[in-house]
Amino acid sequence: MIWSAKKDAGRLIDSRRSEMIKENLEFIKNKALKQIEEAGQLDALNEVRVNILGKKGELTAVLKGMKDIAAEDRPRIGAFVNETRDAIERSLEEAKRRLEAAALNERLKSETIDVTLPAKKRELGHRHPNTIALEELERIFMGLGYEVVEGPEVERDYYNFEALNIPEGHPAKDEQDTFYINGDILLRTQTSGTQVHEMEKGRLPIKMISPGRVFRSDEVDATHSPSFHQIEGLVIDRGISFSDLKGTLEVFARELFGADTRVKFRPHHFPFTEPSAEMDVSCFKCGGKGCRFCKGEGWIEILGCGMVHPHVLEMSGIDPKEYTGFAFGIGLERIALLKYEIDDMRLLYENDIRFLKQF
Ligand code: DAH
Repeated sequence: MIWSAKKDAGRLIDSRRSEMIKENLEFIKNKALKQIEEAGQLDALNEVRVNILGKKGELTAVLKGMKDIAAEDRPRIGAFVNETRDAIERSLEEAKRRLEAAALNERLKSETIDVTLPAKKRELGHRHPNTIALEELERIFMGLGYEVVEGPEVERDYYNFEALNIPEGHPAKDEQDTFYINGDILLRTQTSGTQVHEMEKGRLPIKMISPGRVFRSDEVDATHSPSFHQIEGLVIDRGISFSDLKGTLEVFARELFGADTRVKFRPHHFPFTEPSAEMDVSCFKCGGKGCRFCKGEGWIEILGCGMVHPHVLEMSGIDPKEYTGFAFGIGLERIALLKYEIDDMRLLYENDIRFLKQF
């Protein structure tokens, strides 16, 4: 029967075609499995899924071609297509889980907090030896009933020199290498000008200390700096005598350097005091026997002082017949260097936290 022979021939073509489809499916499957295995990341994996199973995917194209297959071959080929799709989907699913787990692990690893690690310390600053020394000094004098006042760093020539008995041409004026802003205005070379400001206020008695920065055009070395600090002291009242000065400064020295400290007053000269003296303290390292620290002297110079010169009182409107007073000037850096046994003043200005932390 011709038609049946024809039918047979048709079948032959169909069976060849289904064979080809099978081969094609096998090829797609192997390629997909390989790509899935190689996909190192979830988006790469998704790309494989789209390329194979998506609307325009390779397997989808094969499925679309099913309509051309002979009806009796369809179940077999259909089953094979399903099997292929299932295998690819299973593989995709498995790879997805694997990659997700790996991604999670990676995140956990990178976000892990090791609670046993020592905490990061926040570095705090440290009080400067000058500050520590100043606060100690202020504490001592405030305990003796002194007021703490401040004076201006930029000063008139009158307050820095003239009113302190240092007139034009006085050698003391040349000794202090002054930073002048103009002929009349300067950076104060000493805190002594605060004495004048306080006296001019006309409020008596006076019992004050005045700490602050002073300036001199000195070269920097181990004991000099163009800017350093002083603490000025001034007491004015009726009947103040040199013994008040001695008693006060002796108490101060013992508070600062220890109860065993002895003091010694050496005659000296300052233009604004009369008489004037320098005060030494017994070396707090060797107790006065003499050591390297006090350069074998047994004594260490601490401050300048004296009875306020009557002319200075007068210039500031105070009657020297009614009032007397004493004054003193302390170098803050000198105290800090001595107290903390620092041998170079420059260390005080470098602000190296490793240095500062020691005090
Ligand atoms: N002003 C002086 C100086 O800079 C220090 C001084 C000495 C101050 C004696 C005083 C004093 O009040 O009585 O060298």
